[in-house]
Amino acid sequence: MNLQKAQEKLKEFGQEHVLKYYDELSDDRKKSLVAQVLDTDLSVTKKVTNGITEDKRGVISPIKAMTLDEINENYDDFTEEGLSAIRAGKVGAVLLAGGMGTRLGSDNPKGMYDIGITKPVYIFERIIRNLLDVVDASGTWIHLFIMTSDKNHDATTSFFEEQKYFTYNPEYIHFFKQDMAPAATYEGLVYMEDKDKIATSPNGNGGWFSSMQNAGLVDLIHEKGIEWINVFAVDNVLQRIADPCFIGATIKRNCTVGAKVVRKADPDEKVGVMCLEDGRPSIVEYYEQTEELRNTKDENGDPAYNFGVILNYLFHEKELEDICNNELPLHIVEKKIPYMNDNGEFIKPEEPNGYKFETLILDMIHMLDTCLPFEVVRNKEFAPIKNKTGVDSIESARKLLEENGVEL
Ligand code: UD1
Repeated sequence: MNLQKAQEKLKEFGQEHVLKYYDELSDDRKKSLVAQVLDTDLSVTKKVTNGITEDKRGVISPIKAMTLDEINENYDDFTEEGLSAIRAGKVGAVLLAGGMGTRLGSDNPKGMYDIGITKPVYIFERIIRNLLDVVDASGTWIHLFIMTSDKNHDATTSFFEEQKYFTYNPEYIHFFKQDMAPAATYEGLVYMEDKDKIATSPNGNGGWFSSMQNAGLVDLIHEKGIEWINVFAVDNVLQRIADPCFIGATIKRNCTVGAKVVRKADPDEKVGVMCLEDGRPSIVEYYEQTEELRNTKDENGDPAYNFGVILNYLFHEKELEDICNNELPLHIVEKKIPYMNDNGEFIKPEEPNGYKFETLILDMIHMLDTCLPFEVVRNKEFAPIKNKTGVDSIESARKLLEENGVEL
């Protein structure tokens, strides 16, 4: 019965090759393949088979950010407001750690990477320590939700257990898994990873809220009275989480979402930029920025799109529920996809060989009415680890950590 349903689904999306080895599989493997076919959203491949079209963007114009001067003038006021929201239990945090971290050349979850020199200092550890600063200042535990994926869930949860949650209160840590999406050839045929497995990867960081809903965690958020959710990336070891001043500023300015931004280091820096799109807040991701957008100047001759997001957003939870049924745009990204070839051999390609399909958290901003771009001091809050060496690397992050007095 299920086999028939799987066959029909594969036919609908032109993916019949998935069952090529079905007859030679053991019963267990047959079952798992059929279950995967039924579970996997194959409709994404239509984006390729129908011919990739660029999503049309609206009219882009510059946006004003709350700059450091304004923040410093109101620092005490904002901080007090933020601390009182934290003490009232209204703030939770979400760590996005479902990504693959392949750029570091490690198969482990990125957060397990040890960046220490004289002692182990793990990325996850830095994040927890930074959050503990706010727990100490407010005298309140903050619920931390950690998004993993099928590929790294077990390794992540065991690591936290082993490390005794880096002294965080485990009752306030909740793990949940994000959904997976298939990877496809340039012709839109899904790759196989094994005879009984479609090649899949995490479906981008845009699915975080719906994945929390599926995991029943939005019920917990209601139960605990959490109103604000600070979402942040695993790779920034200077990340300030549940920052009282940022929270207070977003609340006081009556915004639905706040976004921490830095002035771009150079026009080509790989950060999404804040802007207005048809008059509403929006972000253009780095790989979609045109030459024109990168080089436009404002009336003072400064770059007009100069505020880069560091992937640290504060969302008002209620509005997320309002928008979560709207579909986020699907981004098609060229990637290196490990796969099984026609001879049944497993290949790890050196060059991109197909597409992955992702939704992105930054597209949520455009669905919300008001956003506060909130400037932060780059050297104090932005040390992303994307590469092994060079820009945004372990080396550059170590330097910044030391500058900020962290012993490595
Ligand atoms: C990201 C931002 C970019 C920002 C930059 C700052 C997005 C899509 N891009 O770029 O706008 O300027 O950081 O450093 O937000 N993740 C998942 N699941 C996934 C994919 C990613 O949880 O399926 C997590 C990663 O673990 C990581 C974060 O999302 O914590 C960002 O990952 P990545 O897709 O690598 O984005 P960047 O290129 O770093």
